[in-house]
Amino acid sequence: MKKEAQSNIEAKAAKTMQKLVGQSMEREYNPYKDFNWSESLPNDQVWMSPELLSIYKVIPFDTIDDTQFMALCKWESLNFYSINVHGIRELLTAVLQYIYQPGFEEYSDYLNHFLGEENEHMWFFAQFCLRYGGEIMPYKRFRFDSSYPAEIQRFITFSQILIFEEIGHYYNKYMMKDSRLPEIVQSINRVHYEDESRHISMGKVLTEVFYNELLQKHSKKDMKKIEAYLVRYIQFSLEGFYNPTCYRNAGFKEPLKLRNRLLEHPERKAFHRTVLKHTLHFFEDRLGFTATINI
Ligand SMILES: [Fe+2]
Ligand SMILES: [Fe+2]
Repeated sequence: MKKEAQSNIEAKAAKTMQKLVGQSMEREYNPYKDFNWSESLPNDQVWMSPELLSIYKVIPFDTIDDTQFMALCKWESLNFYSINVHGIRELLTAVLQYIYQPGFEEYSDYLNHFLGEENEHMWFFAQFCLRYGGEIMPYKRFRFDSSYPAEIQRFITFSQILIFEEIGHYYNKYMMKDSRLPEIVQSINRVHYEDESRHISMGKVLTEVFYNELLQKHSKKDMKKIEAYLVRYIQFSLEGFYNPTCYRNAGFKEPLKLRNRLLEHPERKAFHRTVLKHTLHFFEDRLGFTATINI
């Protein structure tokens, strides 16, 4: 890519980041004050939209008993917010390494807003888990290969944030308007959805800047390796939604076998592609990834 084209991409990114600062400053919600936390959540109301359950379209709901179904809604809801807590902690740690560092002069102002908002998200997701589940469910970490040169690590970091946020976004968008869910569930999904719309815009412009820098410095073989790494991260992120603990707590037999069966099922793979539609379009069509993203 020519230098001129790269500087156009950078100028576009700087402009977007500036616009996002303005939008974040307009936000009036105070998550610490404005949520209406009830003492407990009703057990006769689903905590997660049934169409978002990991067994959807594989195990018909009328073949399991009501108690099991309601328990699965509860545990997969707690799993979703727990994934958010852990994922946010990791992205905060990662972004803190870049703010006010060389190369981030045009972006740091907005990164302050991003960090502040994510810190609030981590708080309200943790509140939900602790109040209504008594715990934040543990989570397996994705091992990052830290031997990559700095510019590759930077691209990977911001790509991972984008992937993580776009997956959550699909769930948020669905649940924020699902009147079958308790009010607090709809509210936290709505507030998160609104903030994340800005974060995703940031993710796209920064990822594009960093990717184009890589194209100038790295061979096709290196680029393939980077793509393969991100495909593994996408797979890992989706697998988090098939937590054997949820199946066990809801009374399903052989939770590990169930998890593997679900992950292999064509209906679930079709769902993954729906969840990641925008992300795949971005990596495949806009950045020009050549790796097969077979999820
Ligand atoms: Fe967030
Ligand atoms: Fe975010």
